[in-house]
Amino acid sequence: MQSIRPYRTADLPILQELTAAAFDGVSIDQGLEREFGPTSGRDWRWRKMRHIADDAARDPAGILVMQTVDGEIVGFISTWCDHEAGIGHIPNLVVAEGFRRTGCGRQLIEAALDRFRELGMSHARIETLVQNTAGHGLYESLGFREIARQIHFGMKLS
Ligand SMILES: CC(C)(COP(=O)(O)OP(=O)(O)OC[C@H]1O[C@@H](n2cnc3c(N)ncnc32)[C@H](O)[C@@H]1OP(=O)(O)O)[C@@H](O)C(=O)NCCC(=O)NCCS
Repeated sequence: MQSIRPYRTADLPILQELTAAAFDGVSIDQGLEREFGPTSGRDWRWRKMRHIADDAARDPAGILVMQTVDGEIVGFISTWCDHEAGIGHIPNLVVAEGFRRTGCGRQLIEAALDRFRELGMSHARIETLVQNTAGHGLYESLGFREIARQIHFGMKLS
């Protein structure tokens, strides 16, 4: 049985490791690397892990962590609120592979949506890649509706 608790600073390296493992195949940073190779000697996992540090720096209270009864971290969701616009954003969501398809992702999003409501947000936003079928299924089943598609371009500078 898993539970959701607030983020602690010491969680960051674990959340980053979970993220690097989870986003294989569903990462824009990985797509850039696939086309052009590493940037500045760093791979896509380094860049993706840095996003989680950015999430924690922006709003540590907006990160919710899922753990087992033994305290093992098996997932998390990062959020932040645009209070002026009334929009809650979800930049990152991860469930460890062995814990997927058991409702963890759904619980994490529901907890994030509850938090948005408590903080007075009127809308929620989340993004996913076209190839991320797990993301599509999950968000649509929770009531999110597709509002736009975006294309990411990159080029190598010489
Ligand atoms: C996306 C992710 C968080 C889903 O977590 P999860 O705990 O497996 O999700 P849940 O068990 O709560 O699934 C809820 C619903 O989402 C949908 N879903 C989840 N995984 C799916 C998959 N692989 N294919 C299709 N639909 C899927 C289903 O509708 C599912 O309901 P069901 O199991 O009753 O059919 C997880 O797959 C993950 O961490 N993926 C890698 C990182 C990632 O893509 N994060 C999101 C970036 S936008």
